[in-house]
Amino acid sequence: MADTQYDPGPRIAHAGSINLGTPDLQRSLWFFRDLLGMEVVVETEGVAYLRGYQELVHHSLVLTQQADARVNAYSFRVQRPEDVELFHAKLVADEVEVLELPSGTEAGRGTAIRFLVPWSEHPFEFYYDIDKPLAPEALRSRLPTSSSRRRGLGARRLDHFNVQTSPGTMNQAEQWMQDFMGLKRREFIMMPDHPTTLMASWMSVTNQMHDVAIGVNRDEKNAQLHHVAFNLENYHDVLTAADQIRDLDISYGVGPGKHGVGQAMYLYIHDPGSDHRVELYSGGYHVFDPDWEPVEWAVPDIPHGMTWYGEAIDIAPGSRGRQTTPSAGLRG
Ligand SMILES: [Fe+2]
Repeated sequence: MADTQYDPGPRIAHAGSINLGTPDLQRSLWFFRDLLGMEVVVETEGVAYLRGYQELVHHSLVLTQQADARVNAYSFRVQRPEDVELFHAKLVADEVEVLELPSGTEAGRGTAIRFLVPWSEHPFEFYYDIDKPLAPEALRSRLPTSSSRRRGLGARRLDHFNVQTSPGTMNQAEQWMQDFMGLKRREFIMMPDHPTTLMASWMSVTNQMHDVAIGVNRDEKNAQLHHVAFNLENYHDVLTAADQIRDLDISYGVGPGKHGVGQAMYLYIHDPGSDHRVELYSGGYHVFDPDWEPVEWAVPDIPHGMTWYGEAIDIAPGSRGRQTTPSAGLRG
């Protein structure tokens, strides 16, 4: 009976969590917990696990105290428990080195695998099993679909990763993410000065327009993080965040504004403990068409794609907007 059923093979469910190295864990905790309003689910020695108020799973953010502000892992949840093993076998068949991470390597999470994305060298992890703990009673919401009451600036969930790789690896890394992970390209831009190289691609497996964006790093670096985005419910939440953050000792990037690409509102700020860039993100369209065709932005329209309205992102050499943070290698 089972052999006659269609098996789609291993699939990614969504971008699940990010593990950020921070040289100042207490300052990062202040930022994510006290300001953005995330719940600290567990804090062990030098590692804190956090989630947004609408996330029922154990965590979407891990803050790890370490000397360097690197990204230790970009983690994706897979569709079925067996997909972790199936992806593992496919990676081995493709001669990609894989580290097995036993259950509990990250608190609350089952067995995972880690590998470096071919070409771009980002440390990706795939897992399925993750606990869904109740929040302490004092934080718990009356809404059964929220893990905790809304607090702070209202970061409700992880939204997407925006990563960068060198121009010479860009096309191959993006193609690998499509082919291996099943990410579908939704929108893209080719480099105006090099029209056969992608400048940026926004891809998803969910009906968000992107779970991952990958862009060219013009400083020729691989394995870079441009930003990790957390979702706020409304545009006015982004405006409130901008208003409050202006008065705080936080490096203010750019925004608030609205992207043409994805049609969502953005505000870029930096975690004061680590300097990793964080986007507060709200709105955007969803993809429902199974035959969605990737949309290319023509060169004259690129400025509208980046900034539909609001403050434009400065990516001139040496500018704040161009800065990225590196990733850890396969073994941290
Ligand atoms: Fe983003």
